[in-house]
Amino acid sequence: MSEERLVIRRPDDWHLHLRDGAMLEAVLAATARVFARAVVMPNLAPPVVTVRDAAAYRNRIGAAPKGGGRFTPLMTLYLTDDTDPEEIAKGYNAGVVFACKLYPQNATTNSQSGVSDIDRIRGVIARMEALDVPLLIHGEVTDDDVDVFDREAVFIERVLAPLLQDFPGLRVVLEHITTKEAVDFVTEGPARLAATVTPHHLMAERNDMLGYGIRPHLFCLPVLKRARHRDALRRIVAAGHPRVFLGTDSAPHGIGDKQALCGCAGIFNAPVAMEAYATVFEEMGALDRLENFASHFGAEFYGLPVNEETLILERAPWTVPESLDVGGGANGGAVRPFLAGETLNWRVAGIGPPSKGPVL
Ligand code: DOR
Ligand code: ZN
Repeated sequence: MSEERLVIRRPDDWHLHLRDGAMLEAVLAATARVFARAVVMPNLAPPVVTVRDAAAYRNRIGAAPKGGGRFTPLMTLYLTDDTDPEEIAKGYNAGVVFACKLYPQNATTNSQSGVSDIDRIRGVIARMEALDVPLLIHGEVTDDDVDVFDREAVFIERVLAPLLQDFPGLRVVLEHITTKEAVDFVTEGPARLAATVTPHHLMAERNDMLGYGIRPHLFCLPVLKRARHRDALRRIVAAGHPRVFLGTDSAPHGIGDKQALCGCAGIFNAPVAMEAYATVFEEMGALDRLENFASHFGAEFYGLPVNEETLILERAPWTVPESLDVGGGANGGAVRPFLAGETLNWRVAGIGPPSKGPVL
């Protein structure tokens, strides 16, 4: 008999873009209604590069509307060629900086100030290793001679594998993995290496984006790959690998910025994230693994307690709205969520009281 109701410990989002200003105000509640904590990405314009930037951004998130959900942002610093190791130490010791994010320069949205060559930040990485500050990686090379569909696999070979060897104590999360190569590399790798997986990379593959007309709202980076890669991601999350956990990479852009001559990369999935993961886990016959993926493995990897509260999901069909209003301003007034207009079988019914022990 299929489940009608699912009660899991309240999950966390280990990779999230909250943006700033009107967009932050508009999107935060979609995350806070579900997730207790989120690792907040620092690719604002200008990026979050100092402890002062991170603390101020944390305050703005604290002040933005959350729709009633208790929510803790975990802040990251954006690494540049000029990052000072002292700044990281200061932020980490002060409890402001949770982790640092490596964007290879020009790999994605607002990454112009990213790292041009990993050798430029060896001193920074050594300091992170010594302090045990996790390094969160956008794992794609940007060399012109590398095909966009190969950027992740080439990054693993050229940059990540040597990095792990050179820094044997460094904790690394390879974010939003998209390929079988990444799945194999992480699962065969050491205990200090983990990966996050998005709802869209579990649900979609490149034919969905390009096979039946071009679908700009499915464009993200790393770009969707062939179906066999999506299937490798599905298999590893269904298997319940403890170092592969939830990170939505929810990344809102105004509709005008997505449907443009040069459209932005990013999928706004916060309004449907847990519902989408539940749908995929059910399709895989792995609903009993959802709680570990969403609520346990990430916390364990980061050495944090799991959340006390629970999240209640119920089988109740609902249709995802076509757009979310984000007010006026430069971003064009509205964002279109992942799975807009589609009907999902799972719905988040709310947050439940603290639970003792496993709830599934
Ligand atoms: O698709 C993406 N959007 N990938 C990223 O790495 C960044 C994100 C964004 O900030 O828009
Ligand atoms: Zn991201």
